[in-house]
Amino acid sequence: MKEITDPIVKHFRQLYDIDISKFDDAFLSRSILKRSADTLCDSPSSYCKHMEQNDWEGKRFLDSLHIGYSEFFRNPLTFLILERFIIPEILLKLKNTHRQEIRIWSAACAAGEEAYSLAMILEEQKHSNNGKWNYRIFASDISKEQIVKANTSTYSSETLNNMSLKRIRKWFTESPHAGLYDNKVFHINPVLKQNIEFSVFDLFNEQLSSPSGSIFGDFDIVICANLLFYYKTRRRKTILEKTGNALTNGGYLITGETERNFLFRNQYHEVFPESTIFRKNRV
Ligand SMILES: C[S@@+](CC[C@H](N)C(=O)[O-])C[C@H]1O[C@@H](n2cnc3c(N)ncnc32)[C@H](O)[C@@H]1O
Repeated sequence: MKEITDPIVKHFRQLYDIDISKFDDAFLSRSILKRSADTLCDSPSSYCKHMEQNDWEGKRFLDSLHIGYSEFFRNPLTFLILERFIIPEILLKLKNTHRQEIRIWSAACAAGEEAYSLAMILEEQKHSNNGKWNYRIFASDISKEQIVKANTSTYSSETLNNMSLKRIRKWFTESPHAGLYDNKVFHINPVLKQNIEFSVFDLFNEQLSSPSGSIFGDFDIVICANLLFYYKTRRRKTILEKTGNALTNGGYLITGETERNFLFRNQYHEVFPESTIFRKNRV
């Protein structure tokens, strides 16, 4: 595997001062082989030469490492538990501590599907219990393109597969113009944008502990889902440390389904059996 990854890792280090060795080796070599095939290069070394001769290929390759796939309510069980148990519990805590705001960080938000799903739940609860509380969602991603998409907030019908028709009708309007391959296109209700702040933020940023707009962290919930497995174990720990430290006392950390095991080895316990919702163990 090293003979596939090493030349490209070296190339990025020398030319752009970017360390791509933090990515998981198997994922990195699969990505190199895929881009080599897409560019008709017959070996990783000829792909490396192709990269040296074509400036844009470096950016193309880097983009291919940041897979931006997401869906609304991607893990339905997680969102159900949030809606039925976690948010009501946090609201009770707010009442007892005279706080008025729920603070959430969607730490690898892609095009905003996760953050908007949370905003739907919170808006619905606010409406149903006539609450005098507020919420703020800080949603960040390393990819500027994804943040632009999140702000544009236009989605294809495939991203809505986990949603009830009732929710789709409430929170989206269908565009009169069809999208790619004649697919339906949906615009998000602007009400959902009011309490979300999107920004570009690299979770490996060594200067800042959370997106600058959020100032002091102290989040009730941090969702860091479906990106840990792209990185080496040591780097996953760095991300988990950062997101864990940004939580308020007793706050919840949420991962993707296939990433649950990373947390068991990292001072967390699951709140509901088989769920992806965790709390820090007391030390
Ligand atoms: C597969 S998407 C997951 C989106 C969403 N969290 C979900 O579960 O559906 C992974 C996202 O992680 C982002 N990402 C990867 N590395 C990152 C980093 N170091 N800092 C912040 N975002 C990162 C990618 O740009 C991509 O949008």
